[in-house]
Amino acid sequence: MAIPSFSVEGQHVLISGGCGGIGSAFARAFLANGASVTVTDLHPPAQALLDAGARFELLDVTSDDAVNALAAKIDRLNVVIHCAGKLIRWEEHKPEVFRQIVDIHLFGNVRLAAAFRPHLKASRGCLINIASMFSYFGAAHVPAYAAAKTGVVGLTRSLALAYVEDGIRVNAIAPGWIETEISRPGRENPEFNARLMQRLPEKRWAQPDELAGTAIFLASPASALINGVTIPVDGGYSIA
Ligand SMILES: NC(=O)c1ccc[n+]([C@@H]2O[C@H](COP(=O)([O-])OP(=O)(O)OC[C@H]3O[C@@H](n4cnc5c(N)ncnc54)[C@H](O)[C@@H]3O)[C@@H](O)[C@H]2O)c1
Repeated sequence: MAIPSFSVEGQHVLISGGCGGIGSAFARAFLANGASVTVTDLHPPAQALLDAGARFELLDVTSDDAVNALAAKIDRLNVVIHCAGKLIRWEEHKPEVFRQIVDIHLFGNVRLAAAFRPHLKASRGCLINIASMFSYFGAAHVPAYAAAKTGVVGLTRSLALAYVEDGIRVNAIAPGWIETEISRPGRENPEFNARLMQRLPEKRWAQPDELAGTAIFLASPASALINGVTIPVDGGYSIA
């Protein structure tokens, strides 16, 4: 009988938006489990993340050149996690803002996937994308964000089928309601918050660390048969 391994020891993991709330939590979890981690973002991480052993590379995921230059610099990679994200409440109805948001979430995802496909092929590694509850539900206040996150689910399925010939798995995590900077305006809006709490089974915002186990699992050999899916990690919000 094969004993499942949940180990990510020795893997090299690259995280876009890796200095944000969820990206940093992923970085800490992979480092604690014996992986090496490169976080990339528009700004440096907290000193504690560097002290824990993370490397940092400045990277704007909307730049083809920057993504390709970073890919040329890195030779060994097992996991790419696309955590970079932004939303602009109510402004995304303007086409130029819509384009900017989709560029980060969806085109950024494709840029990273294309640039690092050779690395992941060499390591038989995996890509982990980040979806959202707005992959499933409409969002009048962030239409570009919701459209991009819905696209991430389809992109995840399609890249999984395309990359299977290279031995690369592609999955996504759809976080529920997580306490980070991007969700601050929602948390601080009493009306929005009250509606949310009514539906959330545990009636609480979650911490970024609560998503990390799923990322570790998706990067580990134990999930070798899981491909092309988006896993909601939402405390039951989407089934309530
Ligand atoms: N927090 C939540 O409740 C929640 C829920 C569902 C999905 N998500 C998604 O999780 C991911 C991580 O978000 P978070 O909650 O950690 O938010 P966050 O604001 O803490 O982190 C987002 C990070 O992305 C970086 N970023 C923005 N634009 C970038 C660009 N052009 N290039 C590179 N980096 C860029 C920011 O600098 C920031 O560090 C995002 O894709 C977000 O949409 C978050």
